[in-house]
Amino acid sequence: MKIAVVGTGYVGLVTGTCLAETGNHVICVDINVKKVEAMKNGQLPIYEPGLELLFNRNIKQERLSFTNNLAEAIEEAKIIFLALPTPPGADGAADLSYVLGAGKDIALLLKEYKVIVTKSTVPVGTADKLTAVLKAHTDVEFAVVSNPEFLREGVAVDDFMKPDRVVVGTTDERARKLMAELYGPYVRQGNPIIFMDERSSELTKYAANSFLATKISFMNEIANLCELVGADVDMVRRGIGSDDRIGKRFLFSGIGYGGSCFPKDVQALAKASEENKYDFKILNAVMDVNTIQKTVLVEKVKSYFKGDLKGKKFALWGLAFKPETDDIREAPALYIIDDLIAAGASVAAFDPEGMKNVKDLIGDKISYGNNQYDVLQDADALLIVTEWSVFRTPDFDEVEKLLKNKVIFDGRNLYDLQKMIDCGFYYNSIGRKI
Ligand code: UGA
Repeated sequence: MKIAVVGTGYVGLVTGTCLAETGNHVICVDINVKKVEAMKNGQLPIYEPGLELLFNRNIKQERLSFTNNLAEAIEEAKIIFLALPTPPGADGAADLSYVLGAGKDIALLLKEYKVIVTKSTVPVGTADKLTAVLKAHTDVEFAVVSNPEFLREGVAVDDFMKPDRVVVGTTDERARKLMAELYGPYVRQGNPIIFMDERSSELTKYAANSFLATKISFMNEIANLCELVGADVDMVRRGIGSDDRIGKRFLFSGIGYGGSCFPKDVQALAKASEENKYDFKILNAVMDVNTIQKTVLVEKVKSYFKGDLKGKKFALWGLAFKPETDDIREAPALYIIDDLIAAGASVAAFDPEGMKNVKDLIGDKISYGNNQYDVLQDADALLIVTEWSVFRTPDFDEVEKLLKNKVIFDGRNLYDLQKMIDCGFYYNSIGRKI
């Protein structure tokens, strides 16, 4: 099938590349001339494990191409995916100007029936708004479909190629058939394509992310309680997770959720509820808990050093909001760095992929290491902030040698408590005994 993808950010590139991988011909269009040139030369502008291989293969086999010209991109496309930014506006609601602007541009170019799909996370009612914009500028038939993405950074290729489910919001029969045909190869194992109306589909995306964020905030509160009552959150997690109704996944307590999705989407759903005069109490609590959880690690540090962090140096392992990504948006690390520096401490950090983005954002407010051991030299303590695999089994003898004090604050519960006792470290993690 001929496909166009408008917008070559994270979602657009994963979508375009993975759609090409099953034999579709995909043209990705972006207004950024330099970016398009670079992609034509095989340069992938984002870091996502496994994507580069597919990206280059599909370019080589001429199933994936790039252009700055919208008319060229959509001319032969049966389906046009919109993967455009929807940044939060000043009032917290998503800014739809890119999506609706693209709708108008497409309408003016439309010559025959096409399906226009919103792939980025958009507020409930966007499909209707987009339909109205298109109708105002064309008499040609079209369908606007909601098809939210459920990609996790770091495993996005797998999530796209083998989705748990595909959600398609449309009441247009022709669009339904085309979408079923397009996604058929991705659900061969029997996972469902769930068809529904556009509004339910749009809400499904917010509900999914908000529910997952709720799970995390709930577990973070259980962890905080565990510390007070002398229980171990890892045990409680295993104890409840083995109940199928609860499930094992997404129950890890830590230093709060971050990234470009959960914080934005929970806030947007709370805002949408408010606009509809509905007081979504749980969501407000989820956000409040998360704000506090981002401060928990530094509070532990402060308490250990009796409130005096002036002149102290801290080593940070991890900057990205989670492993296998260079994304630092809403990363707990940024809050931790701010708090430590505000308390008069200095920070030396290492992250396998996230350092460039942090450097671009805060420059030399902190220092950066070439590897995880570099940053330990003369540090008063080590703080584990992101659970990269490379931090999971460090050489503790080396860690001990380099650190000034044998002190580790672990925001991701990476190490076995007994092992840390045996190694003689002061080890303070989340929701477990010290
Ligand atoms: C999330 C969703 O998982 C995807 O399904 C969705 O498509 C995506 O948002 C989106 O809306 O685009 P992502 O933000 O890439 O994906 O990352 P997650 O792996 O979901 O992690 C989000 C945050 O939750 C991270 O800060 C992570 O550290 C935290 N987390 C996750 C926990 O604190 N505990 C857990 O058990 C799991």
